[in-house]
Amino acid sequence: MNTSLHDRHIEPQILAGLNGDNWHLADYVKRGGYDALKKILNDKITPEFIIAELKVSALRGRGGAGFPTGLKWSFMPRLFPGQKYLVCNSDEGEPGTFKDRDILRYNPHALIEGMIIGGYAMGISVGYNYIHGEIWAEYERFEEALEEARAAGFVGQNILGSGFSFELHAFHGYGAYICGEETALLESLEGKKGLPRFKPPFPASYGLYGKPTTINNSETFSAVPWIIRNGGEAFLKVGKPNNGGTKIFSISGDVTYPGNYEIPLGTPFAKLLEIAGGMRDGKKLKAVIPGGSSAPVIPAEAMMATNMDYDAIAKAGSMLGSGAVIVMDETRCMVKSLLRLSYFYFEESCGQCTPCREGTGWMYRVVHRIEHGQGRMEDLDLLNSVADNIQGRTICALGDAAAMPVRAFIKHFHDEFVYHVEHKHCLVPTYV
Ligand SMILES: Cc1cc2nc3c(=O)[nH]c(=O)nc-3n(C[C@H](O)[C@H](O)[C@H](O)COP(=O)(O)O)c2cc1C
Ligand code: SF4
Repeated sequence: MNTSLHDRHIEPQILAGLNGDNWHLADYVKRGGYDALKKILNDKITPEFIIAELKVSALRGRGGAGFPTGLKWSFMPRLFPGQKYLVCNSDEGEPGTFKDRDILRYNPHALIEGMIIGGYAMGISVGYNYIHGEIWAEYERFEEALEEARAAGFVGQNILGSGFSFELHAFHGYGAYICGEETALLESLEGKKGLPRFKPPFPASYGLYGKPTTINNSETFSAVPWIIRNGGEAFLKVGKPNNGGTKIFSISGDVTYPGNYEIPLGTPFAKLLEIAGGMRDGKKLKAVIPGGSSAPVIPAEAMMATNMDYDAIAKAGSMLGSGAVIVMDETRCMVKSLLRLSYFYFEESCGQCTPCREGTGWMYRVVHRIEHGQGRMEDLDLLNSVADNIQGRTICALGDAAAMPVRAFIKHFHDEFVYHVEHKHCLVPTYV
């Protein structure tokens, strides 16, 4: 873990006081771990009460869309008599995002406890944690923690003699970005190719093996025990209205101390930058991608005036997404940055829908020719037109994720793209 996390975090709820050695069950219990679950089972707290607390807390899904978790849990038909499933999304393939693997590594029991509480609140007896296929150590760590929880009677049949049973399994995924999209994840979990499904039907009615399923991100589940221990109101107060709690930001790029920082939602971006040690080598900030590669880029001035929460970032024209903050300094070429992003989406498109399959390839090729001195002025309109023809016309949101950065880069750094076309080389002289 980035050591700077420990001395720099502010009011952390998930990554608090962790040093890499204290992930075990005994350490977690010392920190108040499994108290929330014990309280629920001993005091026979009702599922309705848990969901109401989540609604009060304004916990929003940490996987990207920021959907209110309490509301999502209320969609699960709890009294449906057949099999239902709970799924944790630890796929984490979005470029710039590296927070969920730290949860698996340093605080796996918070995630496990959050899932068991989810199972109880939604009347679900089986859960899976889908872990990105390229991370082995974290998968093994989670398996070890699960074993500890099972041996202590927190997972399995008749948990702590309460009559409530919840089986939880780890599933090592396939390492494809698209497998993080919830319906592709379900296909993959069923042993099939990770191809997104049409929605509706949504997973709450037709999920894993066609059964009602709730899917949440690892960080979302990990926040739940704190909420139950301290109350929804306390969580809400840590953040700001409609944006409860802390959020883990994975900050990377041109900062002095890249790493994960857990800070209250609503913290000014300028403060987060300061916590990460400021700009590396004293360079000037040029732009920030505030929520993972899918989030539209924001120029420096606007970013410095923005707070880090879902609503403020949306107001600034982007998305908080997964909380992956990619910082770019004055030496970064925006055409080259867009080229890298376009290539990623072109590579990762699953190919099911024509606008995404063909459009991502076209966007990559057009940005490639601009970057390599063969661009035409019409290419800027062409790129916007291809983006228009992808966005909102595909089965899943990967199409939108590919189109939105293209529009934002051209909008905010138009002069730099024009310079590339006219001069056939980069405007940024010190670019390396
Ligand atoms: C292309 C694509 C990739 C995604 N990857 C992830 C991911 O790696 N992890 C994640 O939690 N959500 C990812 N999502 C969002 C999920 O589909 C889903 O909304 C999320 O897991 C729900 O959890 P939450 O409500 O707790 O945020 C992705 C979405 C898309 C369109
Ligand atoms: S939008 Fe792209 S990734 Fe999503 S289903 Fe269509 S082709 Fe596949």
